[in-house]
Order: sequence, then C-alpha cells, then structure tokens
Amino acid sequence: MYWADNMIELIIIAIWIMIPAYVPNPLAAVFGGGKPIDGGRTMSDGRRILGDGKTYRGLLVGIICGLLVGLLQMRLVSNGFAVSGVTLPAFGMSTTGSFTVILAMSCGSLFGDMFMSFFKRRLGLKRGAPLPVIDQLDFVLGAWIFTYLASPGWFTDNFSAWIIVTVLVITPIMHLVTNIIGYFIGVKKEPW
Ligand code: CTP
Ligand code: MG
Repeated sequence: MYWADNMIELIIIAIWIMIPAYVPNPLAAVFGGGKPIDGGRTMSDGRRILGDGKTYRGLLVGIICGLLVGLLQMRLVSNGFAVSGVTLPAFGMSTTGSFTVILAMSCGSLFGDMFMSFFKRRLGLKRGAPLPVIDQLDFVLGAWIFTYLASPGWFTDNFSAWIIVTVLVITPIMHLVTNIIGYFIGVKKEPW
C-alpha cells in the first residue's frame, strides 16, 4: 500500500510542523480571561473592536506554551526522534533560526485568530458566534503568513503543496474534535 504509507507520512509531518501553531489556541481557551485586549472599546459601528474573547492573558499564555512545546520539539529532533519510522523535520538550520520559526508560528496563530475576531465583529457577529471554515483556518493562515515573513526559505522548503493540502484537510477535523472535547470538559461554551 504505497499511497497509504505516503499519506500517513504526510499527515505525521504536517501535524509535527504545525504543532507550535496548534498549541496556542486551546491553551488560550483554557487559561485566557481577564482584561480584554480592546479594553472594552467599541468602533464607530457601535460594536466591540475585538470582543471579550480576546484577552491579554490568553495571548500571552498561548504564545509562551506554543514556544515551550516548539522548544521541546527542537530538542527531540536533535536527538533523532522519529514517529513510526518517519524522521521529523527541524524548524531551522540553527538554534536562532528554529526559535524564529517557532515564535512566528505561535504568534501568527493567535494574531490570525485575533484578526478574524476583528472581522467577525465588523460583520456584526457576537463573541463566540460560529463562522464556519474561517474559525477553523484563521489561525493556520496567520501562522503561515508570519512564518513566511520571518523565514521564507524555511517556509518554502517545508510547506510543499502536499503538506499545505494535508494541513488544510486535517486541521478542521482536529479543530472540531478538540472543541468537542473542550465542550465536554467545560472550557468551551460551544462545541465548535
Ligand atoms: N482566548 C483568550 N485570548 C485570546 C484568544 C482566546 O482569552 N487571544 C480565550 C477566550 O476565553 C475565548 C476562548 O479562548 O472565549 C476561545 O477562543 P475563540 O473561539 O477564538 O473566541 P470566541 O470566544 O469564540 O470569540 P470570537 O467570536 O471572537 O472568535
Ligand atoms: Mg470561537
């Protein structure tokens, strides 16, 4: 089953390089709260700039956790860590290069999410209102844009067309599963 092996390898690599972007949002949901980033301010349309769902604590905890997990991954790669025979890619050639990529992935993930909250408020959607597809992929696009800007060479070497397609297919599925888990353990108010 040649194609099946290839597909599994693609999925393993796609998840691995996206982990620093996957970690921040759920951790922001668990540990977020407190002062909203927009300070409660509204715009001329009478709606909040971002809403109460975007807080400093969520942003900070999310970015720090994304970084820590990424640093752990860097450590594992340098020890030759492999998953079911698939050698996992590094985040860069050097320690500073890898750190830059991991930081861009975790910041980009939460800034992408925040940027879309801005648009959701302009569309008149209340905090927590679902916006299918956008809710599942805003953080992926944010992470990609930040990472491309921070390290274009690493980005184009690692995000081949196949990896990009794989990420776009698996992310909404994983997002849905984690949100359903979040709903049942009580950290998310809605199961999406
Ligand atoms: N969160 C946070 N700070 C952030 C991002 C998320 O505190 N920068 C927390 C909030 O408690 C938020 C929860 O994580 O309610 C879930 O995030 P998300 O689904 O992005 O926010 P929503 O509440 O759905 O708000 P929005 O409609 O703006 O997406
Ligand atoms: Mg939401």
